[in-house]
Amino acid sequence: MPKPTKKTADGFQKLKHASQPWNKIVCVTAYDYTTAKWVDPEVDIVLVGDSLGMVVQGHPNTLSVTLEHMIYHSQCVARGIQLAHLCVDMPFMTYQVNPEEALRNAGRLIAEGSAHSVKLEGGVTFARTIEKIVSAGIPVLGHIGLTPQSVHQLGGYKVQGKTASEREALLQDALAVEDSGAYALVLESIPSELAQTISERVKIPTIGIGAGPHCDGQVLVLHDLLGLNPDFKPKFVKQYAQLSHELIRAVKTFGDEVRKAQFPTQEHSFYAGS
Ligand code: KIV
Repeated sequence: MPKPTKKTADGFQKLKHASQPWNKIVCVTAYDYTTAKWVDPEVDIVLVGDSLGMVVQGHPNTLSVTLEHMIYHSQCVARGIQLAHLCVDMPFMTYQVNPEEALRNAGRLIAEGSAHSVKLEGGVTFARTIEKIVSAGIPVLGHIGLTPQSVHQLGGYKVQGKTASEREALLQDALAVEDSGAYALVLESIPSELAQTISERVKIPTIGIGAGPHCDGQVLVLHDLLGLNPDFKPKFVKQYAQLSHELIRAVKTFGDEVRKAQFPTQEHSFYAGS
């Protein structure tokens, strides 16, 4: 068996051109050491998404996540990773002001957070910013379509690219992200046909979430695919487990056993002299 090798940003581009179905890029989010250790051998990219603002911090959106939060979670995840590529989201207002500030903040995610690459949302408007970060030797993952940091401008978490002019603008966004040197591109909540067109037009791999089957890879939020939040099940999520049921059952059983003095037994207790 060949020794598994570390996944790198340039390797993902080769995967796209090998174009076998089993070469699809697999990406999930993780926000802490323990889950990072579980997912590391199974995926290509571990994404410390700013979705942590919602699934870890309990906010209604990602807008209050700070660079310090992302650095902290990236450090935790990095300790659990051996083979996967570690990509970290640039949170709201850490790259929007100007390319220089964006580069400084991307650099902190790499140097302090041990990230291997950064992700930022936006197309044509952020092409110069992506170029600036890439030219400093930091790989960038683009993200277009539904861009959650623009939730107030988009009027909610809606599928994008519904009209012909929106679809044309998204195609231009994808081409701009590619031209600016990003190593791959997340396509979020867009029609499958548009994701297929974009995936065929750009040479960099596309990684879809709610973007249908024609992308070069797929990403899901770990909590969604594990069924950790039973109240959140949008159309694009497949729950591969319903772990919330199992977690609640385990904690309830623990509580019952403590109240009935069935736990701890001798088996879980220490005794002097033994
Ligand atoms: O923040 C996040 O988790 C993301 C993915 C859903 C792509 O951006």
